[in-house]
Amino acid sequence: MKKPRILVFGGSLRAESYNQKIAAIAADAARSAGAEVTLISLRDFRLPLFDEDLEAAEGMPEAAKQLKALFLAHDGLIIASPEYNSTLTAALKNAIDWVSRATSPDESPLYALTGKSAAILAASPGGYGGSRGLTQLRPFLVNIGIFVMPDQVTIPKAHEAFDAAGHLLDPSQTAAIHALSASLVAKLS
Ligand SMILES: Cc1cc2nc3c(=O)[nH]c(=O)nc-3n(C[C@H](O)[C@H](O)[C@H](O)COP(=O)(O)O)c2cc1C
Repeated sequence: MKKPRILVFGGSLRAESYNQKIAAIAADAARSAGAEVTLISLRDFRLPLFDEDLEAAEGMPEAAKQLKALFLAHDGLIIASPEYNSTLTAALKNAIDWVSRATSPDESPLYALTGKSAAILAASPGGYGGSRGLTQLRPFLVNIGIFVMPDQVTIPKAHEAFDAAGHLLDPSQTAAIHALSASLVAKLS
């Protein structure tokens, strides 16, 4: 059976991001389910705000090229993103905007995105767990040609949800992340 390659990241740039923590749990889960997994943090890429004039003058920044290469090298995505003002974060949208750009004339737009499959998750200190952001993230991904797994996982009260080592205190939440990650691995296998 083919071993699917899955790129996992959080949609927050914050060093102590709860979403990066659940991304790490999902990465472990996908690895246990048989995938080849790369866990990254958008914080490490420091992408400039997408600007067509900047792109025309200087081309794609090195960090965006590296991120796009990672997308191209993987079959699936696991994205754990907070909601900012009830929608996806600017950092996540900006990253996808850079990755969506063609870097050679033979590439179609969205070349690094279309045809992939994704699982989405969110964590928030609030009671909704970032679920309103996922209702925006889902159609955004679908509209750029990414299949999004029907199930999703949200972690409300995220500031109380983890132990010092970054594990979730509630085993049912860990189990839900494992089930979602395993379903993505199964879809890609
Ligand atoms: C600009 C901004 C807007 C936010 N809007 C929401 C929101 O709409 N809903 C929510 O649950 N939390 C909101 N929050 C709180 C975030 O969920 C919280 O900061 C969370 O820890 C961010 O995710 P992270 O821990 O992965 O960085 C907002 C935070 C910021 C900075």
